[in-house]
Amino acid sequence: MGSRTPAGRDCRAPATASIVGREGMDAVKPHFALIPPMAAALLAASAALGIAADAGKGSAKAALCAPCHGAAGVSRYAEIPHLAGQQRDYLIAEMKSFRRATDPQAPTRHWNRRRDRIMDHQLPGISDDDIESLAAHFAGQSCALPASLGEQTLPGLARRCISCHGEDGRSAIATVPHLAGQQPRYLENQLRAFRDSRGSDDQPRTRIDPIMGHQTVMLGDADIAALAAYFSGRRCR
Ligand code: HEC
Ligand code: HEC
Repeated sequence: MGSRTPAGRDCRAPATASIVGREGMDAVKPHFALIPPMAAALLAASAALGIAADAGKGSAKAALCAPCHGAAGVSRYAEIPHLAGQQRDYLIAEMKSFRRATDPQAPTRHWNRRRDRIMDHQLPGISDDDIESLAAHFAGQSCALPASLGEQTLPGLARRCISCHGEDGRSAIATVPHLAGQQPRYLENQLRAFRDSRGSDDQPRTRIDPIMGHQTVMLGDADIAALAAYFSGRRCR
């Protein structure tokens, strides 16, 4: 059984995420349409204040994400990523990718596709505005330090990664994610998904991206584990 969250919702530990049934997912499904009109009016009023206000709006909605991603954007679950301190533009792109997965109007063969049997149910119908304020909120939080510092020497295999993700896993490119301090099992799952998703959306986890598909095509499972261990063991600050 998964652990009980403070909110009393059953956010199952990712080790058992594959057996979360529809009920489990519905229990944590955000209902953006149910935000009370008063709160919505306050949020709308703060829009004029720009990015800081954006982050403020996001923090109200982020309560819906907290059972899984943590109240401060730092996840306690091995298969659920930390969002704190992640690149804002990258977070926006990923949320839009998950939203496309359940949008009947969206093109089915988009070049960047992402499906996950849990996240697919978190963002249906969310507005661009909500996506931007949530991204600003999480990007502005203090990133998670690694549970343990990993192997200090850059593995030979990681040389090709650092031009985009940075030697210490801190990317200087807005659309490329930071990897430093991220949950190692989550990183492994993503690398396997990039490598193994072959245009099919039917798997429990599908992730299609032309750059990362190319980067992972030659990697074996042991390579993936070593790369995940290296980058998750970097200090993000
Ligand atoms: C029931 C648990 C759950 C809830 C609630 C949840 N998420 Fe997630 N989230 C996940 C899981 C699991 C993944 C990893 C999916 C994968 O492996 O591809 C994820 C991944 C993500 C990612 C991708 C991060 C990255 O580094 O690529 C973003 C962004 C995200 N979630 C945002 C949100 C936001 C915003 C909310 C609240 C509106 C939310 N999630 C609510 C479980 C959840
Ligand atoms: C040419 C630039 C580039 C190179 C080189 C590159 N990446 Fe990436 N990486 C990206 C981009 C862009 C994304 C976001 C993809 C998406 O939107 O799905 C990404 C995403 C990822 C993610 C997902 C992180 C998350 O939070 O979900 C992991 C893990 C990753 N890369 C690891 C690696 C590793 C390991 C290597 C080396 C073998 C590597 N990357 C090489 C550009 C690059």
